[in-house]
Amino acid sequence: MRESSLPNLGVGLIGTGFMGRAHALAFHNARTTFELPFNLKLAALADADAARAEHCAQSWGFDHSHADWQQLISDPSVQLVAITTPNHLHFPMAMAALDAGKAVYCEKPLAVSLEQARQMHRAAQSAGVVTRVGYNYQHNPMIGLARQMIEDGELGHIISFQGEFSEDFMGDPQSPWSWRCEQAHAGGALADLGSHLLAMARYLLGDIEAVCADSQTVHGQRPTTRGGQEQRPIAIDDHTYALLRFANGARGTFASSWLKHGYKNHLSFEITGTQGTLAFDQERLNELRIYRPGAPGRDGFQRLLAGPTQPGYAAFCPAPGHQLGYNELKTLEVHALIQALCGQGNEGPDFAEALEIERLATAIRIAASEMRWVTVSDI
Ligand SMILES: NC(=O)c1ccc[n+]([C@@H]2O[C@H](COP(=O)([O-])OP(=O)(O)OC[C@H]3O[C@@H](n4cnc5c(N)ncnc54)[C@H](O)[C@@H]3O)[C@@H](O)[C@H]2O)c1
Repeated sequence: MRESSLPNLGVGLIGTGFMGRAHALAFHNARTTFELPFNLKLAALADADAARAEHCAQSWGFDHSHADWQQLISDPSVQLVAITTPNHLHFPMAMAALDAGKAVYCEKPLAVSLEQARQMHRAAQSAGVVTRVGYNYQHNPMIGLARQMIEDGELGHIISFQGEFSEDFMGDPQSPWSWRCEQAHAGGALADLGSHLLAMARYLLGDIEAVCADSQTVHGQRPTTRGGQEQRPIAIDDHTYALLRFANGARGTFASSWLKHGYKNHLSFEITGTQGTLAFDQERLNELRIYRPGAPGRDGFQRLLAGPTQPGYAAFCPAPGHQLGYNELKTLEVHALIQALCGQGNEGPDFAEALEIERLATAIRIAASEMRWVTVSDI
């Protein structure tokens, strides 16, 4: 094998579940897709299940595995710690990594409480390292295009945002309990899905000043295991709805549900300005729909399709219409992170931005429980 003259960047990945695999794929793909300024090494993999960590380390191409995440953080071959564990573990893992002076790439939501998020942000500031949080949907080139069109005034003055993130993976009352059902683990539809939508709303339209909200636990208990008789009580939100007032004057709606039958990854929005409407649905992530008023009888929505005029798309494919997928968004997220690590860009949400998303989510929770409008800066 040829020796690289580039500096090494050793990745330590914690977790081997849905997101652990997505991160591993993204690191692999980033090496093939982009000219990286580092020799990106998959250094170490850790999981609570030591045998699985060892097995995945071998099959995913990591140098070695650790049975304990703390060993991974103190591993000298690791300079970047990727955290893909349940939400309540983000805080101890990120804090330990920051304390060790390592860059952190943490899955969303940042933390299980606003106080934890504040501490993580402070620790990142004093460590002075790069941080990123896995709000991957904003790395879609079509979302970049949407932001550009809004900034360029193509929709006129923005007056409304109607956003929704719904899935149906908890729609069956017999869907069993998981860590996503625990308050202490930052469970619930708002933390799990809604946080992505809040990140998207902020990315496209900026600060949200005030919220009013309602939420509900529809299924107050779920079986401990699929098909099992034992039931476990549940108190987190199955769906949450909010009204949003943006700092730019726009008004908006927010909906997040994991009970909405038929929807698998319905992160969607319609943004209306004084001169048009822009619509997006993550289930058709290569498309934007735009409406601009035209001649009577000749107007209607136009469908824009992703293609190689967008650098994020061109990196994967020279031909339009061939379509990117979820794992490509994760690869673009890793690329943005690596650019930030070598001081070549500042794309992607860091701990400061993720703290603002947690502040907003907290405001929505307070608004729902106290049945009132909440000013976000008061939180
Ligand atoms: N960005 C996205 O689109 C997206 C999608 C899904 C999940 N997520 C986030 O990713 C995180 C993980 O979700 P998931 O769906 O991959 O969960 P998962 O349950 O599939 O995987 C969690 C992994 O963490 C490991 N783990 C648990 N405790 C551990 C410990 N103490 N030490 C080491 N490893 C431990 C588990 O063994 C498992 O491999 C969550 O924060 C979730 O919100 C993000």
